[in-house]
Amino acid sequence: MIRIIEILSVRVRDAIKAATGLDADPLLRISADSRFGDYQANGIMAIAKQAKSNPRALAGQVVEKLDVADLCETPEIAGPGFINFRLKPDFLAIRLMEVKSDSVRLGISPTQNHTKVVVDFSGPNIAKQMHVGHLRSTIIGDAICRLLEFEGYDVIPQNHIGDWGLQIGMVVHAMMASTLETKTWAGASGALLSIEEVHNRIEKSPITLIELEKMYKRLSEQEKTDENLAEAVRNSVRHLQLKEPVFLAFWENARKITLKTCFELYDYLGGIFKLDDIRGESFYADRLAPVVQELKDKGIAVESDGAVCVFAPGFVSKEGNPLPLIVQKSDGAFLYATTDLAALKFRVQELGAKKIIYVTDARQELHFKMVFAVARMAGWVPEDVSLEHVTFGSVLGEDGKPFKTRSGENVKLRDLLDEAVSRAKRVVEEKNPELPEEKKNDIAAAVGIGAVKYADYSNNRTSDYVFSFDRMLAMEGNTAPYMQYAYARVKSIERKALEKGINASEELALITNITLTEPTEIELAKTLCRYDEAIYSAAYDLRPNYLTAYLYDLAGKFSAFYTQCPVLTAGPESRPSRLLLCDLTAKNIAHGLSNLLGIKVVEQM
Ligand code: ARG
Repeated sequence: MIRIIEILSVRVRDAIKAATGLDADPLLRISADSRFGDYQANGIMAIAKQAKSNPRALAGQVVEKLDVADLCETPEIAGPGFINFRLKPDFLAIRLMEVKSDSVRLGISPTQNHTKVVVDFSGPNIAKQMHVGHLRSTIIGDAICRLLEFEGYDVIPQNHIGDWGLQIGMVVHAMMASTLETKTWAGASGALLSIEEVHNRIEKSPITLIELEKMYKRLSEQEKTDENLAEAVRNSVRHLQLKEPVFLAFWENARKITLKTCFELYDYLGGIFKLDDIRGESFYADRLAPVVQELKDKGIAVESDGAVCVFAPGFVSKEGNPLPLIVQKSDGAFLYATTDLAALKFRVQELGAKKIIYVTDARQELHFKMVFAVARMAGWVPEDVSLEHVTFGSVLGEDGKPFKTRSGENVKLRDLLDEAVSRAKRVVEEKNPELPEEKKNDIAAAVGIGAVKYADYSNNRTSDYVFSFDRMLAMEGNTAPYMQYAYARVKSIERKALEKGINASEELALITNITLTEPTEIELAKTLCRYDEAIYSAAYDLRPNYLTAYLYDLAGKFSAFYTQCPVLTAGPESRPSRLLLCDLTAKNIAHGLSNLLGIKVVEQM
């Protein structure tokens, strides 16, 4: 099915050509105010200027040549030369039959270009629990993957975890110190113990991520004042960098412990990432030196104060001096930027990405701008490959400051989600005390997690937003519980039908033609027919809030319809059509929430 706005756009373009001989974009838009129609062509004024004619007269000539009678009522000319279009109920009925015939994609065709898109998101760091700062990247990245995949792109999620470098060396040092006696490894890179024995010891002393995080923090504090310790840590970092087996064994363990906890959260959030999608900084470790060498060979990187830097044109400091992207420090160490350059090269040259999307907060904007510029200078990114940094604002507490615990720490993502689920559980207990415990828990998980995700999605991605459990769990307004309730309500109609002895699925199967007469029926049908437009704009701008806004609008249109139009008590001339409107509304909400946003729906709340 082609989007309605596309069909109209082509028809108006043809009419413009017939009237003026010009091939021009009619600038078709969805009307902001439905009283004036469903779509409007805004391009006539500009074309009239070009053709040196009167815009209103030109609009009239275009309308004369227009052939849209199968879709729309007679188009109307408004203001200085806008053309307004209103869809015909008969056309909506035909479209809805197409939606009905495809319960998987709801009649929406995938794009024909199966471009490979890498989406880089989440990116937690080893030995650290994920906190609220990781929420947005993780779930916005996931929604982007889902949207693009549905649109037909070949999506490759990449989780660029921080699992290499100085900090990880420290983590490894701390773990070794707590597991092995110092003399067995300090300075001797573990030579006194067999690798089997090392694995054995690691296995015998399991640690949690929380302990790991504490160990790391303690060490980094102690190291500041203890030069001997600092030297020992530097040694460990070096040993790890050289991939000595004992050090690698601890590194692997730290990674395993961290990823286990991350995946518990990813699963909790709705099955984000497969193990294969984890390709962290360590993966690029051996590619860093060659990357720097290549930049030097190409004359792009230069030595500056002992460090290796790239001065990309256009980047200057506040004082107006050229701003370097440092790719190797004077002590030989590589940096975050070096890894990102290696990753970019890998993604284009080996994964075959035609587009790479990075989802991080806005603070990394300059970093990515410079990395992109340097990669292009190096010739690693052909012109037809696009690089996009998708940023987002901060999550704020009710006081308008960055969201922190009372003691001023970052809020752990786990605690946040647990709290949301337990609050949702209280609501379920109150509303439906008679449900079996297991059911209550399922609903609470769907509503609690759904509320956190939906609240994030429904805000404009680039703005900060205030995190409020009360608001996100409210049953009114543009919230997950409201949408989930809307779904459950539609589904309850089917159940009620059965109780009344009406076999809804049989009636639906027999429908060959939908009748739409009541204004609220027509409005609901129209909204259902425009789901593809909402998905397209959300995927095009990478903004999930376009989709939540659509779903909220749909729920509102359904409510109006359901208040105005009896369904189960309607006569045989309208009942099947109304049952179908209910069925398609349920399918649409479920598809939007669950397939595209990864938010579970429940049959009952
Ligand atoms: N680990 C990074 C951080 O915590 C995020 C990684 C983002 N992706 C990237 N390719 N740099 O900020």
